[in-house]
Amino acid sequence: MHNIHIAGTGIWFPDEKISNEELVNSYNSYVDLFNDKNHSKIQEGLLDSMEYSSVEFVEKASGIKSRHVIDKEGILDINRMMPRVDNEHEDRLSIHAKAGLEAAAKAMKQASVISSDIDAVIVGTSHAARNYPAVAIEIQNELGIKGYAYDMLVGCSSTTFAINNAFSDIASGLANTILVINPEISTPFVNFTERDKHFIFGDGCAASVIQKNSSSEKSFKILDRKLHTQFSNNIRSNYSYLNRAAIDSKPNDDLLFNQNGRSVFKEVCPLVAQLISSQLKSNDIDPQDIAKFWLHQANGKMIRLIASKILDTDDFDPEIIPMPIKKFGNLASVGSLFAFNLNNDLSAGQKGVICSFGAGYSVCSIIVEKT
Ligand SMILES: CC(C)(COP(=O)(O)OP(=O)(O)OC[C@H]1O[C@@H](n2cnc3c(N)ncnc32)[C@H](O)[C@@H]1OP(=O)(O)O)[C@@H](O)C(=O)NCCC(=O)NCCS
Repeated sequence: MHNIHIAGTGIWFPDEKISNEELVNSYNSYVDLFNDKNHSKIQEGLLDSMEYSSVEFVEKASGIKSRHVIDKEGILDINRMMPRVDNEHEDRLSIHAKAGLEAAAKAMKQASVISSDIDAVIVGTSHAARNYPAVAIEIQNELGIKGYAYDMLVGCSSTTFAINNAFSDIASGLANTILVINPEISTPFVNFTERDKHFIFGDGCAASVIQKNSSSEKSFKILDRKLHTQFSNNIRSNYSYLNRAAIDSKPNDDLLFNQNGRSVFKEVCPLVAQLISSQLKSNDIDPQDIAKFWLHQANGKMIRLIASKILDTDDFDPEIIPMPIKKFGNLASVGSLFAFNLNNDLSAGQKGVICSFGAGYSVCSIIVEKT
């Protein structure tokens, strides 16, 4: 049996925060502007008028009450409807590396490790900051870490897939201690002019130290990992380095985050519940003995439905399914680690499940035990 641990975790999120009221007010003002500007086309039946969003819908459909974002002003500006960011530039740290360093400092402190203890850095995220050089190598350089570093993309499962890779590298003898970083700066990729998507995402980053034989106070032993992927276009972005040279043109909106939310809901919930249930069964663990399910934070209803399928009842203590989604929105792959970081006060021997899932489709579930 490998003795590999999540030795410590840390989270970072921007100071700026947008409530549902603020977001919906801005969206509805944008709708008025759009409908006024396009009044004659709408009258002639050449264009559909836009409809208002509502705070009640957002809270009922998603469970989200607010989100932390990198640029509130840009997102709420009805003449812009997106955050203002700097282009990638070789003379300064990337936004992903900056967020990663903030989260890494906290994770390293919690794990009681310093840069010279770390053998590798893995960055797992839903959106590549750039094609190369890897953000993981940029962070490695900033921290003065020897060894190797690389980026990986697995949509909203990137966090647990990256922890899984760290585990495998340690188990194979390649490394002893790996820093995993998951920057999810999603808002630049959100179409804030679409009412079924404008409320979903926030920005944030988490880091974790995966280590052989950790003795840190906050350490959790990794008992098992289970991964599954199956192809689906229901969460898709056609953004690509090919866009510039493509001879067939696509509307800009098509390049952003797109999803068929209802299908995702219908298809992913049973997939995840089944995967976790079978994983617990093959590890001889009764679902009732799981103290916390730290699940991907896409939607409050989804989290509750998955937990009720695994536990085979609707009657369970809501405390076992932490929901940072209320405050942070959907944080792409890093939601499950926010849930873990903010709610992992377990006693020695208690077990929990960290599971992220999403685009691909992809699912990775990790069973951990408090040491
Ligand atoms: C996105 C999501 C919250 C939408 O909830 P939903 O209940 O499925 O809502 P729908 O998009 O089907 O819309 C329901 C109705 O509300 C309307 N509506 C959509 N957005 C609205 C808004 N902001 N305000 C008011 N009404 C809205 C729709 O037009 C639709 O109206 P209709 O029934 O007349 O067609 C939900 O589908 C979801 O969370 N899916 C999974 C998300 C996910 O896992 N994403 C992965 C990315 S990591």
